Amino acid sequence: MCGIIGYTGSANAVPKITKGLEVLEYRGYDSVGIAARTSDGVTTVKCRGRIGSLEEKLERNPIENCTCAIGHTRWATHGGPSDVNAHPHRAGRVVLVHNGIIENYKVLKEEMMKKEVTFLSETDTEVAAAVLNDCYAETGDPMTAIRQATAKMKGSYAFGILFDEFPGEVWAVRTGSPLILAKGQDGYYLASDMTALLPFTKEYYCLEEGQLAHLTPTSAVLYGSDENPKVPDWSITAMTPESAQKGGFKHFMLKEIFEQPEAIMKSVSPRIVDGLPNFSADGITADFWRQVKNIQIVACGSAMHAGLVGGRLLEEIAGVPTSSYIASEFRYHPPLAVDGTLVVVISQSGETADTLAALRYAKESGLPTVSIVNAVGTTIAREADRCVYTYAGPEIAVATTKGYCTQVSVLYMMAAAIAHATGRIDDTEARDLARSIAEDAPKAVLDMLERSEELRQMSARLAAREHIFYIGRGLDYAMSQEGALKLKEISYIHCEAYAAGELKHGTISLIEEGTPVIAITTEAALYDKTESNVREVRSRGAYVIMLCREDAPNPETSADEVIYLPTKSTAASLFAAMTAVQMLAYETADRLDLDVDRPRNLAKSVTVE
Ligand code: M6R
Repeated sequence: MCGIIGYTGSANAVPKITKGLEVLEYRGYDSVGIAARTSDGVTTVKCRGRIGSLEEKLERNPIENCTCAIGHTRWATHGGPSDVNAHPHRAGRVVLVHNGIIENYKVLKEEMMKKEVTFLSETDTEVAAAVLNDCYAETGDPMTAIRQATAKMKGSYAFGILFDEFPGEVWAVRTGSPLILAKGQDGYYLASDMTALLPFTKEYYCLEEGQLAHLTPTSAVLYGSDENPKVPDWSITAMTPESAQKGGFKHFMLKEIFEQPEAIMKSVSPRIVDGLPNFSADGITADFWRQVKNIQIVACGSAMHAGLVGGRLLEEIAGVPTSSYIASEFRYHPPLAVDGTLVVVISQSGETADTLAALRYAKESGLPTVSIVNAVGTTIAREADRCVYTYAGPEIAVATTKGYCTQVSVLYMMAAAIAHATGRIDDTEARDLARSIAEDAPKAVLDMLERSEELRQMSARLAAREHIFYIGRGLDYAMSQEGALKLKEISYIHCEAYAAGELKHGTISLIEEGTPVIAITTEAALYDKTESNVREVRSRGAYVIMLCREDAPNPETSADEVIYLPTKSTAASLFAAMTAVQMLAYETADRLDLDVDRPRNLAKSVTVE
């Protein structure tokens, strides 16, 4: 989705902005632009397409002597991808870049048109620029103008703004969309995403909702709802520039799959004390867990799928009734909360608009909330009553892998913690469970990755088909849903997940000669039933790849190909299967020579509802 980078200081701004834009590429975009302040005023260069096209334009018409600039990658919402719709947008004496959506832009546009303002683009952003310019024309004061203009806007926004009369100064404001300030040796920065700042500095500050920032080459000042200026309370990020690079892997997605063992260990080890599951470092006591009588998990996409797997584990291990909801639906059929209901929201980016809206809805309903978030300091992490971080490190590929797997590992540990706190399992069982998550899971991922060539061979058959099915029961159905999403989002092959027993109620009519069906059977108790479903589809021509435990009885007689999973523990077979489906998706898309890390139409962080 859209990305913002800005800089003011003593160094040449243009290479910094283009570098930041390159880092932001992973978020998904279709046009790009820069507004650079020079002694001649503000020069804007923008175009549809990739950063390479912008760089060509900049080479033809170099911008000299510029130490202050803002840049943007746009993911089209209002108006298609085009040069004119690309940001930055100018209105009068104001130039700005924008992430988010101005929901009342039509009304505002009409108001501006009545004032004889003309518009070049179809964007809501140009309307925001016009409203801001209108307020600025009246007040002549950037801060008052920003306050007045944003008071008229409904929706979400993060703005980076230049005013003609204030050379070398950048203003920023956010509501709903993230914005981060950073302090470098040679000036101050602004970005929508921490990774875009990593090439320059580690010192950062996440703007709070409604906060306004004023950057000059030598200062950064914050303004909240009152008039009192504040200095940012800078933090130091643990991320390194290398953590946002491919490090010799062909794609970020592959690198991130290989980072999973470490990511799991980092995410679960802070939640083990004396060998027992323990979330006290997250401000969650055993007593807190004991109050929980019902859990509602809310998230989008893969995070929701992690919630489905986690929900199964919470019910089976902790005995707590758990439902998982798609965040964008959560508000439309308000779940019935009982005394002791806990809402758990999950988000890798910590900024997904639907998840954030659901979190706010839960809080307004008076429900206690816990978030599971990867990106530190983000809105969902801050707004939930408590936040349990996953420590996956920056995830660049649009298709999440290590984000998802660490979410599952943390939910697994939560199930163990609740079960232990309520006495459902004793110390020995809790220790064994915690150990299996912390040790067996990463080992199982590693072992599966050693079999990459086997999975690559299997992907040949998948890459050649138009339709693929995943099937499973229980936990495996939950995992099938993630397997299907992973495969379809990066390979563009239609892939559906079905509860294995449900196929014969309609969907089996789609099975024809050679249709690949991937059956997941990590649960020994459910093996026989899923194996019967495998036979049903195979006898109708399906080509079956079965993921099953090493102790499964003669799976080769039922399936065309078998991927064996370790039996040491549930954690081992679960995480091995997870890795196998990720690798099958990756290898299939790579075989098709697709842009694995940046699949079409998708964005990494979905900050619009
Ligand atoms: O950042 P989030 O975890 O909130 O993102 C939620 C979904 O947009 C995300 O998981 C999406 O489904 C993935 N790109 C799928 O790989």
